[in-house]
Order: sequence, then structure tokens, then C-alpha cells
Amino acid sequence: MKLSAENAAWVEETWKKLQEKISAEADRVGDRIPYIPENGKYSDCSTPEKINGWTNGFWVGMMWQMYHATGDKKYLEIARGCEKKLDMALADGTKVSHDVGFMWLHSAVADYRLTGNEESKVRGLHAASLLAGRYNPDGEFIRAWNPSDRIGWVIIDCMMNVPLLYWAYDVTGDPRYKQIALHHADKCMKDLLRPDGSTYHIVAFNPNTGEKEWYPDPQGYNAESSWSRGHAWAIYGYALSYKHSGKQEYLEAAKALAHYFLANAAQTGYVPLLDFRAPAEPVYYDSTAAMCAACGMLEIAQAVPEFEKPLYENGAVNMLKATAEKFCNWKLEEDGILGGGSVAYHRGEDQIHVPIIYGDYFMLEAVLRLLDKDCFIW
Ligand code: GLY
Repeated sequence: MKLSAENAAWVEETWKKLQEKISAEADRVGDRIPYIPENGKYSDCSTPEKINGWTNGFWVGMMWQMYHATGDKKYLEIARGCEKKLDMALADGTKVSHDVGFMWLHSAVADYRLTGNEESKVRGLHAASLLAGRYNPDGEFIRAWNPSDRIGWVIIDCMMNVPLLYWAYDVTGDPRYKQIALHHADKCMKDLLRPDGSTYHIVAFNPNTGEKEWYPDPQGYNAESSWSRGHAWAIYGYALSYKHSGKQEYLEAAKALAHYFLANAAQTGYVPLLDFRAPAEPVYYDSTAAMCAACGMLEIAQAVPEFEKPLYENGAVNMLKATAEKFCNWKLEEDGILGGGSVAYHRGEDQIHVPIIYGDYFMLEAVLRLLDKDCFIW
């Protein structure tokens, strides 16, 4: 990738800071499973009440990225410890959701890809079968959540989970995994991507017929608004579905989604708002959306011809730099790197503008992608 001298220096400098900070965190946190730090300290989500949480793979993913990029075995040991703890969640398929992709792509599948560990392959295939088991054949979609009044609900975030099915297909040769992924991607394209380039977060289908019924209120401002992290999931998710399937329409979708995101992020200096269609006040940003969208744009850049690449590469770097400069906390003694993450618009101020583990994961992935040092998690 051709970065300007200034951007290349910034990326190198940021990688140095990431190594120092993540090394200090790893020594402190070990194989506890972190989410949002309180007063600069992570707690542990590997308790029976919290082990099913969708965010529980991101720290493990960071550890595998660090192991791959530095060769330091302390990261491998921590990742393996977390992977074992996640077995508690894998043991009870009634409690996990479609987010088994986020949880086990970052843990068992990364382990198998990097080390060939057979136990990890079995875990990954178990998780993929749980995801495949959520498929609704008449509706041609993957069910998102477990409550009995949400049997027909689908969310855009799931486009980041379907790569687990592409991986299972690659490993087993069983086309059902891939068929489910493709049917789901097609269904979401039809009913969650809007003609103007924006996205819905949630759609409710009739679980018996598969017909679209309504759009429930999302993590953004409202059902008709434009939640930026959901949009980022769509950009990266369709870019990944293109990578795994070669279906051109997925790449076209990812590009259009990226253009919409960049145009909106540019309105606020490349630090995206939590929702691109919300009231002007209060001003809520979401740094995690910037980092995930940046990774999606770097994936698109790999797929497009030479003269198209700069749009996505520069877009990714602009967001990465602006967002990191506004929100990063480099104090080695405090947990959490990227502040400014927002869980949801209406979930309370304590979940707005906070460091969230997936913001750190996607920031690390984006920086490593720019250095050609990343391992492929998806
Ligand atoms: N997948 C849930 C979220 O993005 O908050």
C-alpha cells in the first residue's frame, strides 16, 4: 500500500505505542476477558453470567494479532487461556446468539489458522454448526437473537458472523455452510440496505413465511435513522462476503456503503457520529464505527483495481488518524486504548464515549493491515 511519508510515519509511531500499551495490558489482564474498563480497569467477563457476551472474542483476537505480528509467545498463551474459558459458552448453545462468529473466529478459528491446533478446529466447527442451526430455510435468513418474540429478527451485524460459515465450508467442503451464508447475505442486501446507500439495523420477518413485517427500533436513534456502527458492519461484512464468494454484487454493495460512510464522516472531520441521521444535539460520536469501517475500506482496497484503491485507503487512514488522535489514551497504567466508543444511542450516558474492547481490536487490525502485519481473522 502506498502511504504518504507523513501517514507512513504516523502508522509506525502508532504501532509502537500500541505495542507498549497492549503489552502492559496483557501483563495486567492476562486471560481475563475484558469489555469496558471502569476507572481505567478492566473487569472479567468469563463468569457464568457474562461468558455468552458477544464481545468476548475481541481480546483474544487482539492477542492472536499481537502474537502473529510480534512472535511473542505470551500473547499465544493468553489467547489459549481465553479460548478454553469460552468453552463454557460453547457448551450451551441455547444461550449464545448469532454472534458465535465474533466469538469463535477470533479465538478457536484464529488458533487453528495460525497453529493448526486440531482442538480449535473442532471448536470452530461446533460454533459454525450453531450458527447454521439458526438458519430459517423458508425465510432464507439467520436468526439474530434468542427471545421467543424475536424469532424472525435479523440484524445487519450478522454480516460479520457469516465468515464463520465460509471458513467451515473451506475446512469441511460441505456446501451447506456456504449456501446459508450466501442466502443470508442476499436477504440482508434486499431488506437491510436502503437505495440511498444507508442501512437499517434490524428487520423483523414473519418466521413462518419469511415476509418482511417491520423495522424495530435499533441501537441508533430510531428505525429510520442511520446507525454508524451497523453501517460499518455492513461495509466490512459485504467486503468479506465478496472475498469469500467472489460475488461481484457484494463488492458493489460494499463500495456504495463505504461511499455513504465516508461522505458522512467527512462532515465531522472523519470522526463519525454514532448516528448519521440524529438530532444535532447531543453530539455523540462512535470511534468503534470509524475503526471497523476503516478495516472494511482496507479490505475493499484489496479487491478493486489500482486507480480505485486510493479512495478507500485514504478514507481509512483519514478516519483512523482523526479518530485515534481525538480519543486514544496511551497511559500505560490505564486499561483501554480508544475512547469515544458508544454502545447505543438510548442506553445511557455511561455507555457513550467510553473505551470498548472492539474499538481497540479494530484499531489494532487497521494499523496492522496498513503495515501488512495482520493475520486474517475473518
Ligand atoms: N453487534 C452489536 C453491536 O455492534 O453493538
